Amino acid sequence: MTEPLWWQKGVIYQVYPRSYADSNGDGIGDLAGVAARLDYLVDLGVDAVWLSPIFPSPMADFGYDVADYRGIDPRFGTLADFDALRDAAHARGLKLLLDFVPNHSSSEHPWFLESRASRENPKRDWYIWRDAAPDGGPPNNWQSYFGGSAWEWDAATGQYYLHQFLKEQPELNWRNPDLRAAMLEAMRFWFDRGVDGFRIDVLWLAIKHPDFPDNPANPAWREGMQDIERLLPAHSADQPEMMEIIAAMRDVTDAYPERVLIGEIYLPIPRLVAYYGARGNGVHLPFNFHLLDATWDAAALARLIAEYEGALPAGGWPNWVLGNHDKPRVASRVGPEQAAVAMMLLLTLRGTPTLYQGDELGMPNVPIPPERVQDPQALREPDTAFNRDEVRTPMPWDASAHAGFSTVEPWLPLNPDWAERNVMAQRDDAGSMLAFTRALLQLRRAHSALSVGSWHAVSSDGAVLAYERRHGADRVLVALNLSDAPQALALPDWAVTLAPVLTTPHHDLRAEGATLLLAPNQGILLL
Ligand code: NOJ
Ligand code: CA
Repeated sequence: MTEPLWWQKGVIYQVYPRSYADSNGDGIGDLAGVAARLDYLVDLGVDAVWLSPIFPSPMADFGYDVADYRGIDPRFGTLADFDALRDAAHARGLKLLLDFVPNHSSSEHPWFLESRASRENPKRDWYIWRDAAPDGGPPNNWQSYFGGSAWEWDAATGQYYLHQFLKEQPELNWRNPDLRAAMLEAMRFWFDRGVDGFRIDVLWLAIKHPDFPDNPANPAWREGMQDIERLLPAHSADQPEMMEIIAAMRDVTDAYPERVLIGEIYLPIPRLVAYYGARGNGVHLPFNFHLLDATWDAAALARLIAEYEGALPAGGWPNWVLGNHDKPRVASRVGPEQAAVAMMLLLTLRGTPTLYQGDELGMPNVPIPPERVQDPQALREPDTAFNRDEVRTPMPWDASAHAGFSTVEPWLPLNPDWAERNVMAQRDDAGSMLAFTRALLQLRRAHSALSVGSWHAVSSDGAVLAYERRHGADRVLVALNLSDAPQALALPDWAVTLAPVLTTPHHDLRAEGATLLLAPNQGILLL
């Protein structure tokens, strides 16, 4: 194996900038706030920070509606603040990743203002405009991920435009060469400014079928599912032309040393791995979200890991995600007793882990009173059970007013237990989730078996998931009790002489000989 690159052996940490740290007392997190907390991230032991969008935006979708691909929203700071953050990160050996949003811009982007000005405007074709159906209705049956039709009527020019999210997020037309060139230029702008890579928003949606046929009905749709799930996205997602566009993004990226592209792609594993590219010219890391809705039992997890490992193309580097700003917190999904087990899984699987801010504190979903809901998806589809605000609440730093996040009431409420569940409280508590996460990250850094070693199943019988990580003579055994009952694991011969070195909080570590006894919800790492 050639020397692993930073994004292969490293760990990525997602910062939702609005909710990380507020430096100027407006209740909204900002770049100077993130810069002031970088030492925390170094101490935690992560390698790279991915910032959700920080570009000028009307914030209809909290920054995923970009009005200028080359600036910084004044709420987050200035380009000078960005440069200072970049320098401060790099001085500490941290990489800095931005969020690139190629599928749609804000409806207030000057490009869209031009595009909607007239049918003859040179930028008309930079967005996706279509005539009405013969009955005057939308051009096809496509639905928005945020509810309702994906088409918005523009009375001034007598056509519909496409938006698979809010109507304030018109979709860009990647079939137009000028649009494509302008977007690739925006990537260069940030690479030239020293950005180490991008997470690319809804990458699998960025090009549509050229004829815009109706999507077929989804036979699996049931009451209670989202509107968008009534249809199968056969023509609105994952189109073959996508790979050529990604190759163009990759060409731009490869002109700079050691930059990384990470694609947000919610697809089944066989399709997901296609995004590595047929000739390794796709994205470096197509985000693997399959742990986010995995059935939490040993057999199902072992099957998932084996399926993913088996599907990776030659040279394709794996990655795993347990949470982000769109999905329920892992501590709520698997339960607080399993949160540390889940963290141990994330940080000991083969491949680059992405850790979502707050998960290192074991943050659960935070209930949001109805009058404080801000998530545009939840506001449009109030019946859906989950509201993204619940995972976007401010980072609780300490027990001072407003949890040290801000000097004023933050834009979203704090976790109700912030006085106890905060960074300061957990930092010096050896039994905390934070201390446990930091210990896992230290072990990962110290042992090549964990950072770059191979993965081998050991056992998934019953409630224990056990596996080996191996790199040369460095061998690690991870045993995870996914149940709330005690379990025993017969160790393989090679592991009998290993020493237990780390366990989930409030569990005992003792050498057991040939049988490893696991307490309820206990994870143990032996090396
Ligand atoms: C995915 C982002 O993660 C989500 O927050 C956003 O609402 C949609 N893409 C639209 O950009
Ligand atoms: Ca602020």
